[in-house]
Amino acid sequence: MRRLFALAAGLYAAPLWAQSVSMPVAGALAQGGQAGASALAGSAIAGAQPLPPRAVVTGATSGLGKALAVQLGRQGWRVALVGRREQLLQETAALVEEAGGFPLALAGDVADPESVKRHYAEIKDKWGGVDLALLNAGTPSPMDARKFDAAEVQRVMAVNVGGAANWMGAVLPDMLRQGKGRIAGVASLAAYRGLPVTGPYSASKAALATLLESTRVDLRGTGVQITTINPGFIRTEITKGQELPFMLEAEDAAARILKGIARGDRVISFPWQLSYPIRLLLKNMPNAVYDFVGQLIAEKRRASK
Ligand SMILES: NC(=O)c1ccc[n+]([C@@H]2O[C@H](COP(=O)([O-])OP(=O)(O)OC[C@H]3O[C@@H](n4cnc5c(N)ncnc54)[C@H](OP(=O)(O)O)[C@@H]3O)[C@@H](O)[C@H]2O)c1
Repeated sequence: MRRLFALAAGLYAAPLWAQSVSMPVAGALAQGGQAGASALAGSAIAGAQPLPPRAVVTGATSGLGKALAVQLGRQGWRVALVGRREQLLQETAALVEEAGGFPLALAGDVADPESVKRHYAEIKDKWGGVDLALLNAGTPSPMDARKFDAAEVQRVMAVNVGGAANWMGAVLPDMLRQGKGRIAGVASLAAYRGLPVTGPYSASKAALATLLESTRVDLRGTGVQITTINPGFIRTEITKGQELPFMLEAEDAAARILKGIARGDRVISFPWQLSYPIRLLLKNMPNAVYDFVGQLIAEKRRASK
């Protein structure tokens, strides 16, 4: 009886406890700027100016990553920016600084484990680590399985899953040692089913979402938080020239993501007009019906090429 009571009390307390450990990064985002910084700056000495919180944003040269970096800058964060196109990286760095943040541009490929190790070593050297890792770098893939290309599948997996894994491997040991920090990975609503004529992308996002979910469960109780981000369509280079349903501007999407992180959300899916039908209807649609609908979409795509 006593054991049963203890179990019930534990289950009741769990969500409150989970909320409280997600507070450091959430607090910094919710309060913004220098006020939020004090919640995170472990090295701040009483009475001294608190150090701003630290984030790494991968895929910061364009689109969603750029918008996320600038918005963190606006809140006074130190933001390490990762991407391969050096000129664009410098442009984002200038915008972060202009917004009030402290950028650190790190040009390189997230799929290259040595480059990620070097980048994290540089961050550690300058800032001692990160409080938030926004793993956003990603590449699309319009592959039609009628022209199956194994190399293309491996390329996309190496960036969309391998790139996030490389960064998780870099930041997690320090976060675990400190008993705090958050990793937020950008998957997609495309993760919920194998979408037509974009198999490698859809598969990579499903793999990333599952990796993040497993990690979240494994890290329960460590103080390190994991967030999975599933956006719908965003107007960026990936969707260039396309007009897609319920499309959002990158700034709007970034604001929704940072709000969700500030709330301590485990999963952030948006916009609801796409997310609800996909999660409730499409996900549970019988295979025969899904295949029929999918074939219609695939044929439309082939015809438009
Ligand atoms: N746009 C959408 O509708 C949509 C919807 C759901 C999810 N997403 C996801 O959102 C994330 C951001 O995409 P976006 O829409 O903002 O498109 P984007 O403008 O093309 O941004 C992609 C970013 O990823 C970076 N990147 C790609 N490969 C990389 C690599 N190997 N190493 C380092 N950085 C790399 C790119 O930088 P460099 O090329 O300079 O390296 C760029 O900064 C992606 O993960 C994407 O899958 C987008």
